Amino acid sequence: VSTTPPHIPTALVRDFDMSNCTRADGDIYEFWKDLQNTGPAVFWTPRYGGHWVATQSADIRAMQQDTTHFSNAEIAIPTGVQPTLVPLNLDPPAHGAYRRLLNPFFAPKALARIEERARAQAIGLIEQLSARGECEFVGDFAGIMPIVVFLSMMELPQDDLPYLRACGHDIIKPHLPAAIVAWENLQSYIRKWIEIRRRDPGSDPLSATIHAQIDGRRLTDQEVLSMCLLLLAGGLDSVASTLSFIAHFLATHPEHYRQLREDPSLVAAAGNELVRRFGTSNLARVVREDMEYRGVRFKAGDMVLLPFPLYGLDEAIADNPMEVDFRRSSPRHSTFGLGPHTCPGRLLAQREIAIFLEEWPRRISSMSLAEGTVPRFSTGFINSVENLRLSLRSSQ
Ligand code: HEM
Repeated sequence: VSTTPPHIPTALVRDFDMSNCTRADGDIYEFWKDLQNTGPAVFWTPRYGGHWVATQSADIRAMQQDTTHFSNAEIAIPTGVQPTLVPLNLDPPAHGAYRRLLNPFFAPKALARIEERARAQAIGLIEQLSARGECEFVGDFAGIMPIVVFLSMMELPQDDLPYLRACGHDIIKPHLPAAIVAWENLQSYIRKWIEIRRRDPGSDPLSATIHAQIDGRRLTDQEVLSMCLLLLAGGLDSVASTLSFIAHFLATHPEHYRQLREDPSLVAAAGNELVRRFGTSNLARVVREDMEYRGVRFKAGDMVLLPFPLYGLDEAIADNPMEVDFRRSSPRHSTFGLGPHTCPGRLLAQREIAIFLEEWPRRISSMSLAEGTVPRFSTGFINSVENLRLSLRSSQ
């Protein structure tokens, strides 16, 4: 906790800890929503060295899109823990050339190949869990799928899965020392494969990044590492957490689960609505120059937290936003971002979610929280589910 700088009026100061946003009833989304409802729209908290928080949809969108005043140079609070990730930490115009290098990795043909492998893996896992009659969803399913997808995307051996699983998900907890170790583990994994692919290139994204050129020059070793690290880290906890929030919702809302089982044509719409309702990323921006924003004085270097999930939970964007309605027409959200950094992996993430929504209800007729267990959630850089024990009833 820091002292409040002189440019911040006392009326705008609240003691808000982004890593501790759980309501007494355990609900984290209701906690964030209360923050949006009770204002002020933009406030300062002295936590983690001090930072602003913007809670209204209009500001969450505007600050993502106004890259002249708000930079991506640091997007995690507290700052200084997450290694630089390219192109995530670059602003336009430098951002564009690197972003264009990524796009082919997410082309329809590449996605179809990844999806095929992910679906086969998902079906195998679901069959095992269904036979067992219970699972800890995060470790047994949600945490595995994004690793399978990353390994398929990079054409790396699926035998590396246990290593990456063991790296854990501490990268999303920059307020804890374990985050530094987790980032180091992921970096040394990527470094090893960069060396291998340098000697023996293939037609995979890792080899393509090693040999890519921008403005007539090869990428530096650091740029290659940082782009490949982003492709790994970008999809890990975001997908695992989203799948886990969705599974928790379905396990506690049997009527919604029944709808999916009875009408699989709902899957695409349901996936989008669930992604709106259970956004995960609480990312920040750095103020680039002293300025006034809606009557609030920002100073160059101030951090502003944008809880992306709050965009789609704002009444200005959705009617009855806390309700999950699979028939809502075109749900709007900021779950994958709204500015130049909008997630290039969103179609892949949506396919992973669709695979779960299609294959799970086909094999599991009903599910509920395991008796006597209480799911554990956490908030911070990414809202996540720590532990989700489910009882499963097989369809067979
Ligand atoms: C449910 C899953 C996911 C969510 C919620 C999510 C969310 C986001 C968000 C909000 C951003 C924008 C960050 C910003 O504006 O500062 C982003 C960027 C990014 N995401 Fe995702 N993501 C997901 C899955 C994935 C996957 C599966 C991949 C790749 C395999 C991926 C790769 C990236 C990359 C490379 C960027 C940086 C893009 C840039 O800076 O131009 N994401 N993601």
